[in-house]
Amino acid sequence: MCGIIGYLGKGCAQESLIDGLRRLEYRGYDSAGVAFHEGKSFSMARETGRVKNLATSVQKNSSSSSLGIAHTRWATHGAVTVSNTHPHVSNDGKFVMVHNGVIENFNTLKKFLIGKGFEFSSETDSEVLCNLIAYNYSELEPSEDRFIDAIRMALPQCRGAYGIAVLCLDFPDTMVGARRGSPLVVGLGEDANFIASDASAFVGRAKEAVFLNDGELAVLQGSEFRITTLEGHEAKAVSQPVDQISEEVELGDFGSYMEKEIYEQPSALKNTLRGRFGDDGTTAKLSGLEGHEEELRNLDRIIFVACGTARHACMVGEYLIERLARVPVEVEHASEFRYRNSPKAGKSLVIAVSQSGETLDTLEAVREAKTKGLLTLGITNVVGSSLARETDGGVYQRVGPEIGVASTKAFSSQACLCAMLGLALGRMRELSPMDGQAIVTALKDLPDLVSQVLQQGEQIRELAVKYSKADHLLFLGRQSLYPVALEGALKLKEISYAHAEGYPAAELKHGPIALISPECPSVFVVEGTELSAKTIANMQEVKARKGPVIAIAPQSVEIPEEAADDIFRLPDAHEVIRPILANLPLQLFAYHFALLRGLDVDKPRNLAKSVTVE
Ligand code: G6P
Repeated sequence: MCGIIGYLGKGCAQESLIDGLRRLEYRGYDSAGVAFHEGKSFSMARETGRVKNLATSVQKNSSSSSLGIAHTRWATHGAVTVSNTHPHVSNDGKFVMVHNGVIENFNTLKKFLIGKGFEFSSETDSEVLCNLIAYNYSELEPSEDRFIDAIRMALPQCRGAYGIAVLCLDFPDTMVGARRGSPLVVGLGEDANFIASDASAFVGRAKEAVFLNDGELAVLQGSEFRITTLEGHEAKAVSQPVDQISEEVELGDFGSYMEKEIYEQPSALKNTLRGRFGDDGTTAKLSGLEGHEEELRNLDRIIFVACGTARHACMVGEYLIERLARVPVEVEHASEFRYRNSPKAGKSLVIAVSQSGETLDTLEAVREAKTKGLLTLGITNVVGSSLARETDGGVYQRVGPEIGVASTKAFSSQACLCAMLGLALGRMRELSPMDGQAIVTALKDLPDLVSQVLQQGEQIRELAVKYSKADHLLFLGRQSLYPVALEGALKLKEISYAHAEGYPAAELKHGPIALISPECPSVFVVEGTELSAKTIANMQEVKARKGPVIAIAPQSVEIPEEAADDIFRLPDAHEVIRPILANLPLQLFAYHFALLRGLDVDKPRNLAKSVTVE
């Protein structure tokens, strides 16, 4: 949610900053801006719309400065206007700042500053923080630490979340960053150092990344850097190589990141699975669980916390883990869990699932669980993310950066890891070696089966052409395919803006059937179990009311001709991988549906890839 990049080095900041913003654009794309330290003043450019608008305007008035900060915005406080676009400048012109997060008490602070004679040109909480720093600065005697001290004084006055990068006119070789709640990382390169909201911003320009913890400050001065606490104590700076993030963010020959990420699922899943099976071929070996075996064997309950697509993957996990490991599982919206104060029932494990590892509600749910003394595990895609650092153990998805706002390959790998977790827990508890072996075989087959399904993409495109005029669609499925129905509906509404709802198939009669008409198609994901007959009966109920029916069904399930208008066939497969396979045509359906409506599938309106505000 919003992207930050700052540059301090020997060269010209402009190119690195604009390039960094392009890489961060998936985090928010309402408007973008940049500020350069020009010695005696700041030069600035701010534009609404995409980063390319800013790039054009910066090219016209280019700067040779070697110190600058830039931002791409996802609007929280105030509309998408130039005046609300970051960077923000303090009234005295001494400070520029970019900010991610939300300052909850900004109104109180604003009133205080207005009382001191400050004026505001934007509706943002960020401009308030920038001026609060300026005010604190004006209260301090000149010293070499005055800039940093002003920030140290201002931040404890703020409630809420922030990741900031700040420049001060009086300090032409210094950039300061700080974080609480919103991620921030320092990039160390040969000729320049960076501050950014995530490391993808400086891929190819920095060699090492140092992730800040909450309550830490990064001070970049000349070619030096240090990390301190807000109180001024030295903090440990642990660096990681940036090359792991690599050039995987390049689009290559694909028309969009969403398309690329859908089609790279076979290789992505190979990476998720690689080296993660026990030597006896009957279980999964997840190194992030090592050291917790005793606790896992004796669990009374698992609570998944997540948001959006990640929560749907957890719901798949709920069905699989209960079945394989016989542990009660609950799935909570992270935002509900954190305030719900659920009673402590025996030995509970909280598993947080988040592609980015930075979703604020998910992180807060983890923090709440830790306060209660519960064991926490994380499933995340981003190495070094806050989730990876704050949980007691965890598993990386290893699917490479996911740039398309609508999550695709991340869902598949999360559902795959949930199945592996079910297998590992099952084998620690009640699952037989034979059943374990069958699941291992199924998981190993998964990448090839995914390839097979994706090869039928053209058939899905034709379905999208046939139904793309529909403005209302229902998605229905049972058991572990119920979350797939939810995910299919979410994907479609996210990127095509058509109204879509997901339901358990049997719920149809309890309300949604009222929507059935020739203009409202229903997409049924059929299980391939003894329940298939019941789902087919639901399809017939829709047909009886003149509703178009699309069935996504395994090869061996017989579907009477009159029950469906269109059938897309999936390979027959083990139950643990069926949800992943069944979701693929729904990803492709949403993708083609949105393209046919002429929409930008990678940057749907109003959404952001990573939601780092409440
Ligand atoms: C946003 C994204 C979704 C994503 C959700 C959770 O809403 O648009 O695609 O599923 O956040 O993100 P996470 O990074 O926690 O998986």
